[in-house]
Amino acid sequence: MSQIVLFSGDVDRTIDEVLSKYVYDKLFVLTDTNTFRYALPLLGSLSLRGAEVITIPADDDHKTLESLAAVWRELSCRKATRKSFLLNLGGGMVTDLGGFAASTFKRGIRYINVPTTLLGAVDAAVGGKTGINFNGLKNEVGVFNPALAVVISTQFFKTLSHEHLLSGYAEMLKHGLISSPDVYDKLLTLDFGRPDWERMLELVTESVQVKERVVEADPYEQNLRKSLNLGHTVGHAFESFSHGRNAPVPHGYAVAWGLVCELLLSHMQLGFPVERIRQLAGFVRDNYGTFVIGCEDYDRLYELMTHDKKNEASGVNFTLLSAVGEVVINRTASQEEIGAALDLYRDLFGL
Ligand code: GLY
Repeated sequence: MSQIVLFSGDVDRTIDEVLSKYVYDKLFVLTDTNTFRYALPLLGSLSLRGAEVITIPADDDHKTLESLAAVWRELSCRKATRKSFLLNLGGGMVTDLGGFAASTFKRGIRYINVPTTLLGAVDAAVGGKTGINFNGLKNEVGVFNPALAVVISTQFFKTLSHEHLLSGYAEMLKHGLISSPDVYDKLLTLDFGRPDWERMLELVTESVQVKERVVEADPYEQNLRKSLNLGHTVGHAFESFSHGRNAPVPHGYAVAWGLVCELLLSHMQLGFPVERIRQLAGFVRDNYGTFVIGCEDYDRLYELMTHDKKNEASGVNFTLLSAVGEVVINRTASQEEIGAALDLYRDLFGL
């Protein structure tokens, strides 16, 4: 599973360079209502190439069969062929849904991802996972099929809110933790008050390279790719829990708190160093704040963790670390251990 990933300060020029390398009959651009308004105007060269724009409603709530069918319908009515290209311009919702639409339309047409969010750039747009939410479950239907190319540009990130930036940054922290102290330590020094975009592009490049290496070694998530789930078992439970109490938190924030909890489990099971946990907890508390939970919430949180589709047997399956860069997949934690980790999380965050 190989895909070209290009990093660029000039997204229009880079997309033009990519497109000029290929032969295609028609170019379609998929946007959502936000990227239609704010990102598409930056890509002037697409109009020169006669691109046809398809727009779907924004947000994860619209990552549905209806939106997918709308994209298929547009491609069909506007006479896309197997030689056509689809360029997905947006966050993870657009690249996941657009990737799935392209992978299935006429049994598969080529597609390019241009992520417009940091979260999309460092996670969803790279690695070939595509799909939609279905039957109340996230990413329930989809295929593994990589984009031909991914073009990543900080031009988009500069316009993102602090919250969106931090949300993507949590996935970068995860990539640092699973790769090496060298990559990880640099991430802890970025000043979010005044982000240095050149430095950000370096960090993003390094982070995407971590993901690429993992995906190349295990494209279909049989083993090593499970390391990308670090922080997500607790993180998804926090995210769902926050929706349940009508105070939703962004995905990346839930992952940041989830990372702290899963490092605590890593300490309990594998001796992951305590000082590293304190260091991350400090960074997360300062930048993401605190996710408030009490011991009365543990049963519900445990239940949410057992529903995570990555579970393979009884108990809850985790990816843990014995040290920064030392990943151990397929660890099972009991309800008691998870409760103990949540106790320690609350201590660290002064709850
Ligand atoms: N988002 C994790 C992965 O791509 O495997």
